[in-house]
Amino acid sequence: MSICSKIYEGKAKILYTTDDPEVLLTEFKDDATAFNAQKHGSILGKGVINCSISSKLFQELEKRGIKTHYLDSPAANQMRVIRVKIIPLEVVVRNIAAGSLCQQTGLPLGTVLKKPLVEFYYKDDSLGDPLLTRDRLYLLELASPEQVDTITHLALQINEFLGDFFQGCGITLVDFKLEFGVDSQQQLLLADEISPDTCRLWDTSFKEDPDRRVLDKDRFRRDLGNVENAYQEVLQRVLKAVKINT
Ligand code: TMP
Ligand code: ASP
Repeated sequence: MSICSKIYEGKAKILYTTDDPEVLLTEFKDDATAFNAQKHGSILGKGVINCSISSKLFQELEKRGIKTHYLDSPAANQMRVIRVKIIPLEVVVRNIAAGSLCQQTGLPLGTVLKKPLVEFYYKDDSLGDPLLTRDRLYLLELASPEQVDTITHLALQINEFLGDFFQGCGITLVDFKLEFGVDSQQQLLLADEISPDTCRLWDTSFKEDPDRRVLDKDRFRRDLGNVENAYQEVLQRVLKAVKINT
């Protein structure tokens, strides 16, 4: 495979075309941003860590019949993926109240939700990724009702798998964000990444300690320190769990 040209550079990843028009190469960066890029920084080793964690999780999901864009990982910070047209929705699944759910509803941090909540945000930085109602989503024609049903079903299935998987790692899956895309065959695929950048992960051993338990990007967002260690800890636990499962 040869890399052709850079087609997109986002906040955390660079996308390149390859000699196969159906395949893109994603390069994961150490750059970190938060609050719609108002806060900038770098997390040493993040590119490799997030690429490795995402690769493992995509492979585990594939084994369970969830179709993803993942093909392989030719280098530690690179992933070959099936080219998709990204549906401009950030699909958030929540098990425990945190982040914007607490800010916008007043629910206390850590409230265990009676059932997982699936939410759709408009993936548009200039608008600040606003929370959408179903009617607004249809008004903007961001996805068809059929796609929304399928995505909701998949998001809940992925939540079940990831929740159990992380529990096996001594980690509570609080919430996470997914993105989906459509390939040239019109297949809906799970895309983007699943990593400490896109999930809230709490160390089960420190359940009651609001700072110590954080193993995700909230360490960067909230200036909690030890960001690299937390990301590395997640990777080590994921690798161990994958090894045990195989
Ligand atoms: P929120 O509580 O800030 O809405 O975030 C919900 C989940 O989505 C959390 O796990 C972090 C993830 N997320 C992203 O992956 N990208 C984003 O831009 C934002 C705002 C959240
Ligand atoms: N990824 C988002 C950004 O930079 C926000 C976040 O993850 O908090 O802007």
